[in-house]
Amino acid sequence: MTSAIEFKDVTKSFAKKDGTVQTVLDSVSFSIPAGKTTVIAGGSGSGKSVTLKIVLGLMRADSGRVLVQGNDVTGAKGKELEALRTQFGVLFQGSALFDSLTVFENVALPLRERTKKTEEEIGSQVHTSLSQFELDGHEDKYPAQLSGGMKKRVGLARAMQLKPAIMLFDEPTTGLDPVMAQEIYQLFAKTQSEFGFTSVIVSHDIPKIFNLADRVIILNRGHMDVFSSPEEIQWSEKPHIREFVKMTMGDIYQSHLVEI
Ligand SMILES: Nc1ncnc2c1ncn2[C@@H]1O[C@H](COP(=O)(O)OP(=O)(O)O)[C@@H](O)[C@H]1O
Ligand SMILES: [Mg+2]
Repeated sequence: MTSAIEFKDVTKSFAKKDGTVQTVLDSVSFSIPAGKTTVIAGGSGSGKSVTLKIVLGLMRADSGRVLVQGNDVTGAKGKELEALRTQFGVLFQGSALFDSLTVFENVALPLRERTKKTEEEIGSQVHTSLSQFELDGHEDKYPAQLSGGMKKRVGLARAMQLKPAIMLFDEPTTGLDPVMAQEIYQLFAKTQSEFGFTSVIVSHDIPKIFNLADRVIILNRGHMDVFSSPEEIQWSEKPHIREFVKMTMGDIYQSHLVEI
């Protein structure tokens, strides 16, 4: 299986105000398979966002190597970093839409900034995307006029404009009610199977999110445990994983696997 992203012995620490050192990633190694959905789960402050920032070159690892699509990007800067970032579409917590731009203008932005497409080409591509994400008729609205779920869809449409090979979602359903969260995950699954990109989802929505996952990575105290399927997690003998299963999945997760 080819890897879209690979971490090899990556360590990242922060100096704390009290003089101690906090090691967020302690020589972690993992790979994210191309064209699949990988879920990264872990408690608040466990280093999920730090991991994504290292992938994007927004933060540097202290040691170790990071490979994206087989290329070593560990020390990437300048043009190399720019080229690295164009391979990613990113959807972070707040959707990060521009409040002063309409839905159409928000989605068109990457095309205007990063391509030489004509206004006509941009208009046609953006309209196609808007209907794919069921946003027809909303193009002239401003973000403040949209529901939480619609904002996420606009954010997703915008992130997809440059046809990225890899999509990164950092807690994409924050602020949504459970029904809407479920709808967004279904939309991710549908979009992923249509476009075939590599999907990396950081999420708290356990166990719901696991239905989507081809691979699950659990981040805990600087270490990562990698599972080749969501089901595999509950068979783990490791005490901290058993604790995680008990706390987050409990009976709800197991009940649909048990044959009655
Ligand atoms: N720029 C930074 N400077 C110092 N500490 C940081 C920085 N970024 C993150 N951290 C610390 O690293 C830990 C992991 O953060 P983060 O990856 O944001 O957690 P989460 O898993 O909730 O996304 C946290 O304890 C946070 O305080
Ligand atoms: Mg985070």
